[in-house]
Amino acid sequence: MKIIVLVGSPKGNQSITKHYVLYLQKKFPEHDFLFQNIAQQIKRIEKSDEAFQEIINKIRLSDAIIWAFPLYFLMVHANYKRFIELVYERKANGAFREKYALAISTSIHFYDHTAHNYIHGICDDLDMNYFGRYSAGMNDLMKEDKRENFLKYAAQFFDSVEKKLPTSRFFPKIIQSNFEYLPGESNIKEKIDLGGKKVLIVSDVEKGTKSLNLQKMIDKFKESFSDEIEEINLQDLNIKGSCLGCLQCAYDNQCSYIGKDDFIEFYDSKVKKADILIYAGTIKDRYLSSRWKMFFDRSFYNTHIPVLMGKQIGFIISGPLLQIPNLREIFLGWNETTGINSVDFVTDESQNSEEIDGLLHALASKSIKLSEIGFINEQTMRGVCGKNIFRDDIWGGLRFPFRADYKFYKKHGFFDFPYKKRKSIFISKIMLFLSRSKGFRKEVNSRMISQMTGPIKKIIEEK
Ligand SMILES: Cc1cc2nc3c(=O)[nH]c(=O)nc-3n(C[C@H](O)[C@H](O)[C@H](O)COP(=O)(O)O)c2cc1C
Repeated sequence: MKIIVLVGSPKGNQSITKHYVLYLQKKFPEHDFLFQNIAQQIKRIEKSDEAFQEIINKIRLSDAIIWAFPLYFLMVHANYKRFIELVYERKANGAFREKYALAISTSIHFYDHTAHNYIHGICDDLDMNYFGRYSAGMNDLMKEDKRENFLKYAAQFFDSVEKKLPTSRFFPKIIQSNFEYLPGESNIKEKIDLGGKKVLIVSDVEKGTKSLNLQKMIDKFKESFSDEIEEINLQDLNIKGSCLGCLQCAYDNQCSYIGKDDFIEFYDSKVKKADILIYAGTIKDRYLSSRWKMFFDRSFYNTHIPVLMGKQIGFIISGPLLQIPNLREIFLGWNETTGINSVDFVTDESQNSEEIDGLLHALASKSIKLSEIGFINEQTMRGVCGKNIFRDDIWGGLRFPFRADYKFYKKHGFFDFPYKKRKSIFISKIMLFLSRSKGFRKEVNSRMISQMTGPIKKIIEEK
């Protein structure tokens, strides 16, 4: 069987993920594995159509494809995303049709499901036979039980390909729209006063497409304010490339791109200084553009330190966001984990210009209000679990090399493990001991519910 492995790590041959597939190559010598570094080679692939077509031809000749990628910002790396964009732009979709696909990732399991949902969605869009996903922890290969499990899964995959077992589709096809947003005449009676708040719009409107919905929505949003609102287009910034995964930033947040392009200066002086951020983008396949992805990946020089904590972020999105709940999940996941309040998502999906005008104005006024009162919504499981994954890994396996994170987490009391709640553990231990007695259990059961509400009732009476 001929298998092409599309490697999604910027580290190419040094990729941990690639090594997982090298292990499969060793254990399944009956199959031909052809490795293709995608993320690391993206500049060449983008520049030379010949290089791109060479890969596409290899895909055509293969029986199966392994998407082998590391997690990058709840998704795949920006360069991998760019490759997927190229497949559509250069109309190479046909090469993937009906090919069997397996997605293998390595990560610390922070939103690995959203990255896999993305790749799964892309496979469904490309009419592939998506077999499944294997999401390995980055060090799983060192453990015997994990290696065995990995081999079992791979064997099932190869068997499915050989027997041509049918696969079921998971994500519905996305229905595109040609709706043109026509902003209404400005009838805002009272413009919104910034009240000293700094609003920054970050967009990625592509040159020559100024008339598109996104720019019109951004301009309409700006109209709500009594003052000029700054907009920075990621297309205008000199960004040399995406994150290299070199981890030089881990020690003290010094990125290896320092002095080479505009990104760090832009992020430090503009993004970090804003009170309200508006991220504006157009959906490309099942995410925003790879330029936007580059923005997120490059911000990793701040490592796991929540540098935007306390800010309000609103989204202006052109495209079918309602059909891609996974994309909203990615933004909410990151925002909740890092203490950012997500104000709203305004899209052009309603196909009703008047309604969009109203939503944009509401976004403007809510952002200011929420910033003024300093409101950050409580976390759901997205934020609670996300934060705990970072906390545990920075306490443990990632303490080295992530020195800067460790220092920050320690200083700000982020290591709030349950074992620190000594009083409640002590009480629980006593209760556990006493609950051996049937009489005690009966007595407690009769009072348990009222005991639980008791302290809450007291707060209502007193506060
Ligand atoms: C910039 C950057 C972003 C990352 N984002 C995530 C993430 O969102 N979730 C996660 O679980 N791991 C994340 N990781 C960890 C990597 O996915 C993990 O270390 C992976 O094993 C690296 O594989 P590779 O050597 O093949 O590149 C990130 C690492 C880097 C450098």
